[in-house]
Amino acid sequence: MESWSMSFLISEVLLGREYTNAQSKFLVRDRIGGDAHQGIGQTFLSENEDGGVTGHTIVRIEHDDSGKQFGLFSTTFVAPEFRRQAIADSLLRRGETWMVEHGVNEAVTYTSDANTKLINLYEINGYKIVEVLPGKKMIKLAKPLLRVGAP
Ligand SMILES: CC(C)(COP(=O)(O)OP(=O)(O)OC[C@H]1O[C@@H](n2cnc3c(N)ncnc32)[C@H](O)[C@@H]1OP(=O)(O)O)[C@@H](O)C(=O)NCCC(=O)NCCS
Repeated sequence: MESWSMSFLISEVLLGREYTNAQSKFLVRDRIGGDAHQGIGQTFLSENEDGGVTGHTIVRIEHDDSGKQFGLFSTTFVAPEFRRQAIADSLLRRGETWMVEHGVNEAVTYTSDANTKLINLYEINGYKIVEVLPGKKMIKLAKPLLRVGAP
């Protein structure tokens, strides 16, 4: 593991969580609640010290064909000038925590099979490619989540 990630700190701040690494300090703020049609969802914003938004991720609780629920990262974006500072990594961790808090034990995302940056990010965080969607050049990445208090 590289040294920058070893110095990563997380603490609670106001409505969000403050993430600090060797190079930057930013806030992942909780915004926007659920949607009656889409089910429960949340948008997380990362902000820099001036309050400027540097990135976001949107998470939702979904159900598969058998009715089993899973957490979906529907979008993640980091502004180009703020990339490679582990902001997407922080958004991913915050989204997973939210999913665990909502009793979900699997996290999923879909992306283009050409989006190597995003695929790397998820694979480093323990996700595996579990499906290649036929004809769409899309893949599904998934990871089991540990339930709080689970034996
Ligand atoms: C994919 C995306 C979200 C990644 O955002 P990011 O904030 O740059 O991601 P991270 O910083 O967490 O990780 C990116 C890389 O920076 C590296 N990195 C992170 N912090 C670092 C640091 N302090 N110093 C050096 N390298 C660092 C990571 O190891 C990773 O390296 P790798 O690509 O070689 O594996 C961003 O590129 C993006 O918004 N792309 C366009 C939108 C998109 O494709 N969204 C997905 C579909 S919805």
